[in-house]
Amino acid sequence: MPHNFNVVVLISGRGSNMESLIRNAKNYRITAVISNNQDAIGLNFAKSCNIPIFSFPRASYLSLSEQKSAIFRKVDQLTPDLVALAGFMMIVPKEVTESFYGRMINIHPSLLPDLPGLDTHSRALSENRLRHGCTVHFIDSEVDTGPIIAQAECKVMQDDSTNSLAEKVLKLEHRLYPWSVQNIACGAISLKDGKVSYSKEVISSAYTEKFLIPT
Ligand code: GRF
Repeated sequence: MPHNFNVVVLISGRGSNMESLIRNAKNYRITAVISNNQDAIGLNFAKSCNIPIFSFPRASYLSLSEQKSAIFRKVDQLTPDLVALAGFMMIVPKEVTESFYGRMINIHPSLLPDLPGLDTHSRALSENRLRHGCTVHFIDSEVDTGPIIAQAECKVMQDDSTNSLAEKVLKLEHRLYPWSVQNIACGAISLKDGKVSYSKEVISSAYTEKFLIPT
């Protein structure tokens, strides 16, 4: 299958979701990885795969807003079909979320709309949640709120620690994110009038994979 669906990935650190997107790229191509942090560990893996990397360290810019402008100017120049945020720790400017609406997605380590924001695993534990997981969603102008594409969940066990829970959720993330991107790439998942729509095949594949999709 020709890899003519181009994805740009934005990271800030470890980049394990980026790695999973690269390793599982079947009908899409990661054309570049961009970071706001020149020391992001994930950049090394992308480089070892000969994927162009671009970093925009805060120290090179007079202000945060100039740094963001440089990052998203580069994203624009690359003309991606999809932008995938993967542990990208910056709030995306409103004008960018508007121009990329339906073409920019994020993975978040909770079952949104529950537990938006940071420290989701420790909050899941302290709130005695029975279930936890991750969500892939389209980006809108608020943080962690855009239309939900799919979720993967796990049980929270009595003996779970923040680390064990994070590990369980991360394993789910590494399956859910490539699955979502693959299905967006082939048009089986799309955003129409603010609602996510799914092909019949995707609905059955989500069932097989035990992923949740909003009905
Ligand atoms: C993941 O848990 C992701 O859901 C969240 O940040 C973490 C990034 O991990 N947005 P990695 O950099 O992909 O390893």
